[in-house]
Amino acid sequence: MKFFVDTADTKEIADLAATGLLDGVTTNPSLIHKSGRKFLEVVEEICGLVEGPVSAEVVALDHEGMMKEAAILRKIADNVCVKVPLTVDGLKTCKALTGDGAMVNVTLCFSANQALLAAKAGATFISPFVGRHDDVGFDGMELISDIRLIYDNYGFDTEILVASVRHPIHVLQSAKIGADVMTAPPAVIRQLFKHPLTDNGIAAFLADWQKTGQAIG
Ligand code: G3P
Repeated sequence: MKFFVDTADTKEIADLAATGLLDGVTTNPSLIHKSGRKFLEVVEEICGLVEGPVSAEVVALDHEGMMKEAAILRKIADNVCVKVPLTVDGLKTCKALTGDGAMVNVTLCFSANQALLAAKAGATFISPFVGRHDDVGFDGMELISDIRLIYDNYGFDTEILVASVRHPIHVLQSAKIGADVMTAPPAVIRQLFKHPLTDNGIAAFLADWQKTGQAIG
């Protein structure tokens, strides 16, 4: 499963990229606002920090407006992935852009039927929002299972990008279901490395090592 980080904080992205475990980045207008930076500038900087796809979202709601914004975003770097909302105009734009060789991430997906439409529109990625789905009383992970089943039934190449990930259990369940990608905030990715027994084990080994009076090298 690929790991994307869901942030526009370039320091966090650089730190996680240094682990060699980061496969891409997703942003959205709220994350750009949180960064306090100019959209095009921050996307350009992020594209230089990772080799994988960097999702940058259009804000126009009509097809022509989305195409104009997408053209500007695509000029930034080859690894820009244009993010469009799951609307009629968004999917029309998705079809046109992927037909022209661009990567497209269809966002704000909350049903398996929406995901089916996105795959038919040739989306590179579909982004079901599991956390927000849970928030309103549905089961976000059931949505991921349904999409996996449907995409496998028909051999769609669209990658399932689990978004709105709130905690490590979402990551675990995504991997068990066979999602292609998950995007999570930096704090959730950092949590994945941690286990109290790992910390305890390191402390105990180091304490015993010091008692040996030895050094390596
Ligand atoms: O980037 C889209 C998504 O991951 C947002 O997550 O936590 O705001 O629902 P959240």
